[in-house]
Amino acid sequence: MTAILPHGGTLVDRIITGPEQKALLQTARELFPIRVNSWTISDLDLIGVGAFSPLTGFMNESDYRSVVKDMRLADGTVWSIPITLAVTESIASELNVGQKVALVGETDGIIYAVLDIESIYQVDQAEEARRVFKTNDSAHPGVKKLLDRPATYVGGSVQVLNRPEPAQFSDFYYTPAQTRDHFAEKGWKTVVGFQTRNPVHRAHEYIQKSAMEIVDGLFLNPLVGETKSDDVPADVRMKSYLVLLDHYYPAERTFLGVFPAAMRYAGPREAIFHAMVRKNYGCTHFIVGRDHAGVGDYYGTYEAQEIFRNFTPEELGITPLFFEHSFYCTRCGNMASSKTCPHPKEHHLTLSGTKVRGLLRSGVCPPPEFTRPEVAQVLIEGMKEFVHS
Ligand code: ADX
Repeated sequence: MTAILPHGGTLVDRIITGPEQKALLQTARELFPIRVNSWTISDLDLIGVGAFSPLTGFMNESDYRSVVKDMRLADGTVWSIPITLAVTESIASELNVGQKVALVGETDGIIYAVLDIESIYQVDQAEEARRVFKTNDSAHPGVKKLLDRPATYVGGSVQVLNRPEPAQFSDFYYTPAQTRDHFAEKGWKTVVGFQTRNPVHRAHEYIQKSAMEIVDGLFLNPLVGETKSDDVPADVRMKSYLVLLDHYYPAERTFLGVFPAAMRYAGPREAIFHAMVRKNYGCTHFIVGRDHAGVGDYYGTYEAQEIFRNFTPEELGITPLFFEHSFYCTRCGNMASSKTCPHPKEHHLTLSGTKVRGLLRSGVCPPPEFTRPEVAQVLIEGMKEFVHS
């Protein structure tokens, strides 16, 4: 085990197995069913395996209000993103505090969990959006998702009875208990977590490897849950990570495992959330670069770093490693940032996401100073399928 404690001190385990699972499934079939979508199922699973420790279920009213207002659970523990279950008014009218309900997949009919209802409450979603996303502009993908949900939330602990089957790359799904064991087996005392929803370009590689110089191992932990439609699909990204690791990373010092959560695009608040979750997976350090988890121009370039100042190192428990905007400098002849490069901007190779996607779509590799050719090749192939599908 790595020395780092899970957030809140104990790794939550709400997965029910064996005879208990069988019995509870039997009971669950008789319970009032609440249909849940794939986003909620992924939250549920992450609660179940302890990735969201100390959460044991969907947030109750007191935790929700405290998280939205102060970025802390009601007991003061740092937590920045509401993890909630929204139901329609008509469903809410069928529910009571103290009741058990079954959470059932809306497309597959699978009973994923039993929820013990501890609170039913109305929320002001515009206020939630302003506080969590710093905007209530419905053009923001996270805000849109939020405003599309009903405004009645149901809170309570869950017992998870079934876990979603990964559609692909099932070998790369690990529970926090498994990643912790893995890091311990490797003998890593310090592990840096890297969140990404993109292919790993040279700038990402640079900041990962800068971090690897001071820790024992890298946990490359791409988010593979729901992302916005113009992000590169997770299966293409996974292929690109594998080829990159294969060619450019020391196998003994890297570990690839997915983070099956939905992307919120909440910028600064999501950076805190991402860090806490990686602590649960056993990371001691976490990389926060430029505009972490941002979208459009909603957040300042380094806001996701500045937000960490609101908390003491003890209450965070994981050490954030901050990196400036990185680029290839043609004068330096290497990757750099404003911290290490004295040359003016015209020597810096930076390409916008739109430009890179355009190149890849027309089958052109971006310069090797921007993307490794092996990675570019995978992305070009992936884009073809993406465009033709
Ligand atoms: S994120 O939404 O998952 O944060 P992305 O996959 O682009 O997006 O970024 C992963 C991590 O790399 C984040 O911590 C982000 O801040 C950082 N990052 C991305 N590009 C750069 C860059 N050019 N310079 C420094 N950090 C970067």
